[in-house]
Amino acid sequence: MKVLHIGDVVGAAGGQFLMDHLPAIKREHQIDMTIVNGENSAQGNGITKHSMEQIFTAGADVITTGNHCFKRREALSIYENPTVLRPANYPDGCAGHGVCTVDFGPWQAAVLNLSGTAYLDPLDNPFTIVEQLLEEIETPNIFVDFHAEATAEKKAMGYFLAGRVTAVVGTHTHVQTADETILAGHTGYLTVVGMTGPEESILGVAVQPAMDRFRFHFPTRFTEAEGSCFCNGVIITFDQKCGKCTKIERLILR
Ligand code: FE2
Repeated sequence: MKVLHIGDVVGAAGGQFLMDHLPAIKREHQIDMTIVNGENSAQGNGITKHSMEQIFTAGADVITTGNHCFKRREALSIYENPTVLRPANYPDGCAGHGVCTVDFGPWQAAVLNLSGTAYLDPLDNPFTIVEQLLEEIETPNIFVDFHAEATAEKKAMGYFLAGRVTAVVGTHTHVQTADETILAGHTGYLTVVGMTGPEESILGVAVQPAMDRFRFHFPTRFTEAEGSCFCNGVIITFDQKCGKCTKIERLILR
């Protein structure tokens, strides 16, 4: 079986590019399940009902998010959908949920969304929370979207879950890393899957305002970059009987 995990969709252009290309990517690579990180899919980041529908229409089975999950007020109703996740380590009682199981008949797959806490919001400890959640998940096919800033925290999560989940894929920093590997002979790992949106940009944002903020240290209004888009993803091939990743390959579509 194959799971495709697509990196953070940025803005309207990223959503449109996904709609235009995801069906063909899924066909070409014979993808069984698709996970898309959608936390920047609304204009100006966050997720809206419209951007959620765009991602599902494109062909996602599960949408994951991250630190911008509650950026939009309407997001509260979005998380009533069982296949739209916010990080599981938000406090108890918070709207939404961080894990879901998708039933494919003869096999199931769980998707688990976590946020790092290094240089991000001080949420519950993701290592403690994932340990608790793993006890409740019944399928061996477990796919983790770890939305984190620090490379070291993402590496630590990879090794922490090695041998216990099918894949750990990092999101949030938008620049795809080239370190895909299989940990403990079982767990597919990639530090950052990348992004889907305008390529000539600073993480999807127009170059000039993002650059000016660094140069002059005054607040600038970020705008969406224009120009041609690309899509970054990773394909995880696995044995659905035991949850073991047998192959991991990065994907960049321009
Ligand atoms: Fe993020």
